[in-house]
Amino acid sequence: MSEATAPAPAAAPKLRRVVVTGAAGFIGSHLAAALLRTGTTVIGVDRRDPAKDPGAAANLSALGGLRGYIHIQADLLGCAIDPFLIEADAIFHLAGIPGVRPSWGPQFSEYVQSNILVTQRIMDAATRMRVPRMVVASSSSVYGPTNGGPSLESDHPRPASPYAVTKLAEEQLCLAHAARGDCPTSVVALRYFTVYGPRQRPDMFTHRALTAALTGQPLRLYGDGHQRRDFTYVNDAVAATIAAAGAPDDAGILNVGGGSGASLIDVINIAQSLTGREIQVQQGHVRNGDVLVTRADPRRIHQVLGWQPAVDLHAGMRAQMQSLAQPAYPAAA
Ligand code: NAD
Ligand code: UGA
Repeated sequence: MSEATAPAPAAAPKLRRVVVTGAAGFIGSHLAAALLRTGTTVIGVDRRDPAKDPGAAANLSALGGLRGYIHIQADLLGCAIDPFLIEADAIFHLAGIPGVRPSWGPQFSEYVQSNILVTQRIMDAATRMRVPRMVVASSSSVYGPTNGGPSLESDHPRPASPYAVTKLAEEQLCLAHAARGDCPTSVVALRYFTVYGPRQRPDMFTHRALTAALTGQPLRLYGDGHQRRDFTYVNDAVAATIAAAGAPDDAGILNVGGGSGASLIDVINIAQSLTGREIQVQQGHVRNGDVLVTRADPRRIHQVLGWQPAVDLHAGMRAQMQSLAQPAYPAAA
């Protein structure tokens, strides 16, 4: 594990035409770009309006100049989905409302709408349109609190936040559809572990730590910084996601963990050493639903897809810092 540009050694299936939901988002835009580079036609669907949303515009600009991209601005809660799915080899369903902490508030109904109701509509449409494969973005948060040891896909889920409950519902909903005798769509649910890298969502910790180091603005730390995450570089997450389109029909649930287990204090130290600047930390209280440790058991995904992460936290954060230090977010290498 080292360079942020190194491709993960996973088998890539041949895909002619696919749908990526959430294509104007962080992971979705990287996924769409990677698929386009392999010659796949990508129908990207997202409800954000790049004319009014600079984050969406920056994400979509990474797709500029790549052939074969068709963008549809639509809310999947109400739009007709069937037409996007004509002749699709796979759906990569990444659209959703992410983020653990805001899910306790009044925004919860949006989590239910975009993570559960939208997913039900997509699985119904996939079944009608006979799309052979659905890859759905689930989350490490479904495991909830652990004893610090690695989480296995077969562990009993104990989601600790409303967000995590919706992600568990989302993956299980897809798998329930797929288990029906009359459903032509097989499902692979990927439990991503805290993904970082260029164009990461600005509410996430790695982005905030690097921004604090680059700008001198204070960094708010929720707790003592000893929380640990299995940080996953975005190119690695994308490689696993593309490989999942070619997984056996019974692959089911797979952990996507970067293998870079680190604490928030480690992240702060790396941000300081990469920038040569000290971060001013303001300590706040631990947020509800925040688990102390996430750690993926990597064996199943390695066995099923031959995937393993290629980028370590230092190299990945360097790539993220370089993209932040430039005036516009460039496409990730
Ligand atoms: P993101 O917010 O950057 O991207 C999600 C996109 O989905 C957004 O652009 C949003 O506009 C779109 N969307 C939401 N509801 C929609 C709707 N009703 N219709 C159309 N578009 C809609 O988030 P991200 O960090 O790229 O995460 C992508 C997916 O991966 C999410 O499902 C998230 O729960 C999951 N996930 C992310 C992480 C992570 O570390 N980033 C970890 C685990 C799981
Ligand atoms: C991340 C994503 O945000 C979720 O969408 C995703 O589902 C989840 O990973 C996952 O792995 O499934 P999280 O691990 O909470 O969730 O990642 P961050 O938002 O980057 O937070 C990491 C840690 O930093 C948390 O302990 C959080 O409390 C802390 N944090 C975050 C701060 O101390 N300060 C901040 O400003 C932001």
